Amino acid sequence: MIAFYKHNLKKKNYLEKTIKSPYLTSGPACQEVENILSKKFNKKHALLTNSWTNAVIALLLALKIKKNDEIILPACTFVACANVVEMVGAKVVFADIDKNTKLMDINDCIKKITKKTKAIMPVHLYGNLFQTHKLKKKIKKNIFIIEDSAHAFCGEYNNKIIGYYSDFLVFSFYATKSITCGEGGAIITNHTKYIDKIRSLSNNGMTKPAFKRFENNKYKPWDVTSFGFKANLSDINASLLKSQIIEYSKTAIKKRKIYNAYKKKLSSIKEIFFPENLKNVNRDYYLFPIGVKKNIRNKLIEFLTVQKIFVTVNFKSVTKLSYYRNKYKNKKCFNSEIWGDQTLSLPFHTKIKISEINEVYKQIKLFFKKN
Ligand SMILES: Cc1ncc(COP(=O)(O)O)c(C=O)c1O
Repeated sequence: MIAFYKHNLKKKNYLEKTIKSPYLTSGPACQEVENILSKKFNKKHALLTNSWTNAVIALLLALKIKKNDEIILPACTFVACANVVEMVGAKVVFADIDKNTKLMDINDCIKKITKKTKAIMPVHLYGNLFQTHKLKKKIKKNIFIIEDSAHAFCGEYNNKIIGYYSDFLVFSFYATKSITCGEGGAIITNHTKYIDKIRSLSNNGMTKPAFKRFENNKYKPWDVTSFGFKANLSDINASLLKSQIIEYSKTAIKKRKIYNAYKKKLSSIKEIFFPENLKNVNRDYYLFPIGVKKNIRNKLIEFLTVQKIFVTVNFKSVTKLSYYRNKYKNKKCFNSEIWGDQTLSLPFHTKIKISEINEVYKQIKLFFKKN
């Protein structure tokens, strides 16, 4: 069996300290990880949440995004990106992807900007970095840029770290992400005005979490000045993140080496192709997507699954998913739909062995011999 993903959680972590603490949620462990994150990305604020999805819902609510407002995002992404826009009652505007890199096509995005556009949400798909500085130069200052960094935890473009050019950088710590605590997310930003609002929204609208109510042995009263919901992270989850964040530069080097070895091996199979890497970009590596002809993609997935090589699709174009196809009729994004029918992601993680990569190669070769 070749697993699609294996996490890097260790038995020795900071959980024990948290269990001994009276605060199990939004307490000292969260605060410590938030401090590490804001320093790492050189921003004033970091806020941990229980998912990327809930982080962005809280963020859109804080920005007062509402009905008739438009948010542009690439059509080739995880459906959560569109769902968060629907959740706040706004309109999703799909931009196509570039046919080579599979990242959002900047020109198509610009074409789709209207007076109603309130935010643009590019995605660092597969860890390949979207060139936010190029987009930023072409849009008005009142349009927020929210970088979806669910697939990239490190990297630089135009000599700047991810998040430098955007208003908000949002991570996912979901079960299969490069850094995980089962479910989790984080927002990194310099916008003081919005972060306090997001923090409160993510904690049922309360102005202070329990941990902050007893600071310096003094009881601090709290209030609810607007509604909210439950999107805060527990200290139990946060304590699993700390060592993975600290060690990520080593993890990233390991992943790059594995990715390059894998790609070198598979490059000799003429029937498969890869998203193009951008030049002069120090990218992260998450997932190992390949493309094959549309008519054999599902057959290859079935074949590999029978061989106990677990693969998946990242991603079918959101414009082709029933809910979005029916609601946003005629909003076609051709490159995204083509890639969504051609792509599959092969097993990829830091624990994958060379022998497993060789087996994946052997089985794909065999498939093409038979088909
Ligand atoms: C590109 C992208 N954005 C957003 C998300 C949503 O993350 P979460 O599951 O933490 O809400 C994912 C999750 O897989 C993703 O791949």
